[in-house]
Amino acid sequence: MTLAIKAAGLTKSFGDVVALNGIDIEVEQGTVLGLLGPNGSGKTTIVRILATLLKADSGVASVAGFDVVTQPDEVRSVIGLTGQYAAVDEYLTGRENLELFARLFHLSKIDAKKRADQLLDRFDLSDAADRGIKGYSGGMRRRLDLAASLIGRPNVLFLDEPTTGLDPRSRQGMWEVIEDLVADGTTVLLTTQYLEEADQLANKIVVLNHGEVIAKGTSDELKSQVGGDRIELVVGAASDLPSAAGLLREFGSGPATTEPEIRTLLLPVSGGSSAIVDVVRKLDENKINIADIALRRPTLDDVFLSLTGHAAEDKTETAGAPKGRRGRKARR
Ligand SMILES: Nc1ncnc2c1ncn2[C@@H]1O[C@H](COP(=O)(O)OP(=O)(O)OP(=O)(O)O)[C@@H](O)[C@H]1O
Ligand SMILES: [Mg+2]
Repeated sequence: MTLAIKAAGLTKSFGDVVALNGIDIEVEQGTVLGLLGPNGSGKTTIVRILATLLKADSGVASVAGFDVVTQPDEVRSVIGLTGQYAAVDEYLTGRENLELFARLFHLSKIDAKKRADQLLDRFDLSDAADRGIKGYSGGMRRRLDLAASLIGRPNVLFLDEPTTGLDPRSRQGMWEVIEDLVADGTTVLLTTQYLEEADQLANKIVVLNHGEVIAKGTSDELKSQVGGDRIELVVGAASDLPSAAGLLREFGSGPATTEPEIRTLLLPVSGGSSAIVDVVRKLDENKINIADIALRRPTLDDVFLSLTGHAAEDKTETAGAPKGRRGRKARR
C-alpha cells in the first residue's frame, strides 16, 4: 500500500478559533478520500495545508512522499487544486483561461493551445470555449475550474466542495468526470457536505466536526452506524400500530419502533424502495390505512445526530429537518 497523502496531528488556530485540533489522515494512492463535515468544520483548512497554501501550527503532512513544509515546490509539482470558489478569470473566455493556466505551467504556446483544446473537449466545454466566463453557468464554471487544475496532469487532486451549488444533472456530470480521473490513477481528496456524494465517489470517508475527526470508514460502515435505510410509516389510527408492526416484521432488517403520539412506525429495511412496495401491499391487504409513507436514507445530518447528538449545520436541534421526530432525537 502506497500512501499518496499522509497527515498526522495537524493543528491550526486562527486567533481564538481552533480550526483543526489534531487531524490524522491517510489516503492510499489511486483512491478517493471524502472529507465530510458541516460549515466551519475545518475541511478547507486541511486542503490548504496539504496544498502548501497554509502552514499548520503543529503536526506533519506529506503528499506523494514530499513534506508540505520542507518540500513545497515538489508537492506543488504533483498536485492539482480546485478551490471552493472558482479561480478562473471572469473577463477571459474559457479557452483563454485554460491557455493562461497552461502558460503558467511553462507549456509552450502551441502545447498550451493543445492542452486547452483537449481539456475543453473532455469537459464538454468546446461549444462554449470562446465565450466569456461571465456567461457560464455554475456547472460550466466548476468544470472549467477542474479543467484548469488538471493542466499540469497532477497525480494528486484536491477538490474543495466540487459540486456545491450545482443542480442534480451537473452534479452527476461532475461525478462522472471525477470517476474517470480516478480510473486513470489519480488520487483524489475531496471535501463535501453531502453524504450522498461521499457515498458515490469515496473509497473512505472521514467525518469532521469542529476540527476533529469524529468518524472514519467506508460509506457502508458509516451508514450502518446510523442504522441504514428505514421506512417511516404514518398510519390512519394509532391503534393500528401494533398490528402493523406485526405484519411488517418480515420486511424489516431489524425490529420496528413505534411512536404512537404521531401515529408513526419506523422500520429499518435493507431492500430500499422495493421494501416500500412490499409494505404498502401488505398493509393494503390487511386494510390498514396509510396516511403517509417514505423511505429515509441516512444523510449527513443523521450521521451527525447519531455521532454528536446534534444536527450538522446547527447546534440547535432541527437544522433543515422535518421537525417532530428530529427534535426529539436531538434531545435524547
Ligand atoms: N483565514 C482565516 N481566518 C480566521 N478564521 C479562519 C480562517 N480560515 C478558517 N477560519 C476558521 O476556521 C474554521 C474552519 O474553517 P474551514 O474554512 O476550514 O471550514 P470548512 O469546513 O471548509 O467550512 P465550509 O463548509 O463553510 O467551507 C472556521 O471556524 C473558520 O471560521
Ligand atoms: Mg470550506
